[in-house]
Amino acid sequence: MSNEDYKVADISLAEFGRKELDIAEHEMPGLMATREKYGKEQPLAGLKIMGSLHMTIQTAVLIETLTSLGADVRWCSCNIFSTQDHAAAAIAVTGVPVFAWKGETLEEYWDCTFKALTWNDGSGPDQIVDDGGDATMLIHLGVRAESGDTDFLEGPASSEEEQVVFDLIKRVLVSHPGHWTKIAPKIVGVSEETTTGVHRLIQMEEKGELLFQAINVNDSVTKSKFDNVYGCRHSLCDGIKRAMDVLISGKVAMVCGFGDVGKGSAESLVNERARVLVSEVDPICALQACMTGYQVTTVEDALPVADIYVTTTGNKDIITAKHMSQMKDQAIVCNIGHFDNEIQIAELEAMPGVTKTSIKTDDIPGGPVDRYTFPNGNSIYLLAAGRLINLGCATGHPSFVMSNSFTNQTIAQIDIAKNADRKVGVFRLSKELDEEVARLHLGKLGAKLTTLSQEQADYISVPVDGPYKPEHYRY
Ligand code: NAI
Repeated sequence: MSNEDYKVADISLAEFGRKELDIAEHEMPGLMATREKYGKEQPLAGLKIMGSLHMTIQTAVLIETLTSLGADVRWCSCNIFSTQDHAAAAIAVTGVPVFAWKGETLEEYWDCTFKALTWNDGSGPDQIVDDGGDATMLIHLGVRAESGDTDFLEGPASSEEEQVVFDLIKRVLVSHPGHWTKIAPKIVGVSEETTTGVHRLIQMEEKGELLFQAINVNDSVTKSKFDNVYGCRHSLCDGIKRAMDVLISGKVAMVCGFGDVGKGSAESLVNERARVLVSEVDPICALQACMTGYQVTTVEDALPVADIYVTTTGNKDIITAKHMSQMKDQAIVCNIGHFDNEIQIAELEAMPGVTKTSIKTDDIPGGPVDRYTFPNGNSIYLLAAGRLINLGCATGHPSFVMSNSFTNQTIAQIDIAKNADRKVGVFRLSKELDEEVARLHLGKLGAKLTTLSQEQADYISVPVDGPYKPEHYRY
């Protein structure tokens, strides 16, 4: 740790981080092309951009793309376990303030978010890059408290983490009076990375509480149909293997949820030759799972047979403490959705007679892994303490897929800067930009695109240069 304007685990890891950044740049053609295209114009010049997004090597390339377009950036992670310490160090030595390390406590996590949101002169950001909506939520709660509605801070909080957030807001009310109402009106907009964050933004918009414009990056086709699917296909089993070093082949795996992340996760497991079961509430997604060849059933029915459980729903209480007490001995439980409330961990720890043994802490490769033993002698393994397995126990998605997501992020930040007076609401990027992101990644894969003739374009009623699909097309 350091007294400089950053807080990372070990600044001496910077050189190693830089070497991995160099490798990642070659795998992130969209971001490098965006630097090239907008470098001269400097569309983010003078703008303060705060990011709350997993501080990985890939994110480091995003940060350097934003700074190369003129932005003044501060960063924190959006998960206590997802920081790659060498990536954080490599960025910190360039003078970009980073507040992130692997294995933060909840208090440290929220303090880092506050620090990343607060420039040294006390000002806040013009724009935010958010993943899961924690930075946006903190600002909205802070404004609510400073506007006189402080009752909610007295709780009861719905979780230990919510209590930590309430305590932070109370501290800031005293230490930085007027902070939130000073910084919030200057914020022009946020670009949101993930399904869960978009869900939060839409809830705020519907209640009329949203304070600034938001770009829904997640629902660019080149984000959710790539990162959520192919990213998880790569990184789910990577995480399980690093955590447990277990053979997945032949085991029965239960995937809860068959949306984009569920589809990628199921494929990750089936590629390892697991037998995959799926649970769903949506009949369309359930039917898709059946058509792909998976058995659709409930968690309850999977209990006697499943060896591995993966939650992918973005919903809560998917695997209950009772479920875990009835699983097969040595079952593996993990979550790849954004928040850890998909699995009832607090309830599990409160169950009479349950004992917890730490197998690997978060500073050991593949950790954290914990074993919970029940009074009947059976045990289960919980990976990444129920937080995102792929970022907690492994290194998240690979660079190429994140290049698609982060090119959307960069374009969204430029779009917010260029449309600073846009009304408050949640918007998506245009299909032209979505197609552009895909186009930027084809060359690297040696793909050769076919060009429509004017006659063909007229026949199917699309412009020769696109967009090629109507808005309602589902890909
Ligand atoms: P989605 O909305 O496409 O899929 C979620 C699915 O879960 C839906 O089909 C829904 O019907 C189903 N579901 C909801 N409640 C359920 C229940 N009780 N039982 C069974 N199924 C249920 O969302 P998406 O894009 O797949 O994202 C899921 C989560 O993963 C979100 O929290 C998102 O933020 C996160 N995410 C994580 C990533 C990672 O790298 N770990 C990458 C991208 C997203």
